[in-house]
Amino acid sequence: MLQNFLFLMKRIKGRQILAGAVCAICILLTQTSLAENRYVGSEACRDCHEEAYENFTKFAKKAHSFEAIKKMRDHLTAEEVKTCYGCHTTGYGEPGGFRDENSTPDMANAGCEVCHGPGGNHIESEDADDIIGIGRLSKDRCEKCHSRERVEAFNFKPLLHGGAH
Ligand code: HEC
Ligand code: HEC
Ligand code: HEC
Ligand code: HEC
Repeated sequence: MLQNFLFLMKRIKGRQILAGAVCAICILLTQTSLAENRYVGSEACRDCHEEAYENFTKFAKKAHSFEAIKKMRDHLTAEEVKTCYGCHTTGYGEPGGFRDENSTPDMANAGCEVCHGPGGNHIESEDADDIIGIGRLSKDRCEKCHSRERVEAFNFKPLLHGGAH
């Protein structure tokens, strides 16, 4: 009787643990996708990557890419202006990314993260694996904004290293 009871308990417990584990995994998965890697803006990279930051802000046109929108927006509808954001700002429509000039001024302009991906996890961990870095940055990333024909008209290597730092 006792043995049966213990056996039953074990089975129930086993199932509960299994169910618990499944739940935990589900929660973990939803949380990682909720507490996803957020965009944080180029300014957040400055302290640890000063040289890259200085070079980028001084020399890359991306660092001023919102100006292009400002120049033209008087001639565009509000809806048309929104179509520019995907390429001329950082992380538009993504967690932490650009929403509008007032609420996310740091994300106007195309920053470090358009190439290196969202930096939220990396600025916490300081782990190279948490950022799209050396050897993992391919031209696929550029093609989201620079069309394939454009990219391939150049030699891949010099272009990959162009417009950066
Ligand atoms: C698919 C990505 C993409 C979209 C969408 C986009 N742009 Fe651009 N834009 C670029 C890229 C890339 C360049 C750099 C030019 C080049 O070398 O090809 C650029 C360059 C420009 C320039 C020239 C900047 C300069 O300094 O000479 C202006 C102006 C401009 N874009 C305005 C706009 C406006 C306004 C919109 C929205 C109506 C827009 N762009 C939408 C990718 C885009
Ligand atoms: C136009 C795309 C682009 C932008 C924007 C960009 N980078 Fe990079 N970055 C690269 C490329 C390409 C490499 C070299 C990757 C490789 O060697 O495989 C690189 C390498 C790096 C490295 C490692 C090597 C090194 O030079 O120390 C760091 C750190 C870095 N970038 C930081 C930054 C920071 C900080 C910003 C913004 C201030 C930034 N990057 C903006 C493309 C970019
Ligand atoms: C608190 C400090 C810190 C901040 C903030 C920081 N990084 Fe880093 N970053 C590091 C360290 C540490 C490394 C590893 C250097 C090494 O291993 O040589 C690194 C490495 C990198 C690399 C090279 C990865 C590779 O493949 O070797 C890139 C690219 C990079 N960071 C980009 C960024 C960007 C973009 C930002 C801003 C969103 C940023 N970092 C913010 C500390 C930081
Ligand atoms: C989120 C969109 C986006 C991505 C991703 C992107 N770029 Fe750009 N890039 C732009 C825009 C927008 C401009 C033009 C800025 C302006 O002139 O206003 C530009 C300009 C440039 C230029 C012109 C020269 C200069 O000084 O900036 C080069 C070169 C360039 N990008 C290379 C790259 C490379 C290489 C990659 C990938 C590693 C890349 N870009 C990824 C949006 C992007």
